[in-house]
Amino acid sequence: MQRAIAILDSGVGGLTVAKEVMRQLPQEEIIYFGDNARAPYGPRAADEVMEFTEQIVGYLLQFQPKMIVIACNTATAIALQRIRSQVDIPVVGVIHPGARAAIKKTKNGCVGVIGTENTIRSGAYQQALQSISPTIQVVSLACPKLVPLVENRMFRSEEARQVVAESLRPLANSPIDCLILGCTHYPFLAPALSEVVGPRVSLISSADETAREISAILYHRGQLAQSGKLPVHRFFCSGNPGVFQAIAQEWLGEQIRVSPVMWQMT
Ligand code: SIN
Repeated sequence: MQRAIAILDSGVGGLTVAKEVMRQLPQEEIIYFGDNARAPYGPRAADEVMEFTEQIVGYLLQFQPKMIVIACNTATAIALQRIRSQVDIPVVGVIHPGARAAIKKTKNGCVGVIGTENTIRSGAYQQALQSISPTIQVVSLACPKLVPLVENRMFRSEEARQVVAESLRPLANSPIDCLILGCTHYPFLAPALSEVVGPRVSLISSADETAREISAILYHRGQLAQSGKLPVHRFFCSGNPGVFQAIAQEWLGEQIRVSPVMWQMT
């Protein structure tokens, strides 16, 4: 039996990781859960994010996945260690892969990180970066207004450009040469973000490096899909399935079906 890779996020952000997994591992089946009824996770209390993440993992385990990917930086920062201790399959987060990608890219050793309030407050990127390269300089900035622009499908709007410009203003004179998009929703805003930071600052998304880590783990466990057939991916969300589907189809460039999941919301 082929087992799927389960990917979860607070909403559509994890699709940036899912897309890269589809590109790098085209034979792998994905089961995706977007908790768009309760997004954003960024301003929520840590125990709430923990509870939601555990609930979604519990839901996904019914499909007997071979791996769980927490494709949400906020949930990775808060819940990765606990979830790893609760399940007996590999659990991958997005913070270490993002940090690794930035270390590969930076030339001057000064890295910017933008993320939700929870992710920035946790200091998880700073720790991850400095655990690899202790002398790296990290400039962190919470950008709480960005996730709602993506979840509301406004990421290409003029308003999004203005909000991005205003949110990134504190980085204007910073010496960073790369900027980690420390929230999986932010690659949706990449055109506006690169316009604001300019050509001297490289944008780093953790999607590519996370997909590489997934590939390496599955290879070492002898669990890479072998079917030779294109897989059928499954998408679930807790909120508006129409909005989720429209964003997902636009981002993935393919038609998908979304199954709504009704559960008691907090
Ligand atoms: C959020 O939903 O607030 C965050 C998503 C992320 O941190 O990747």
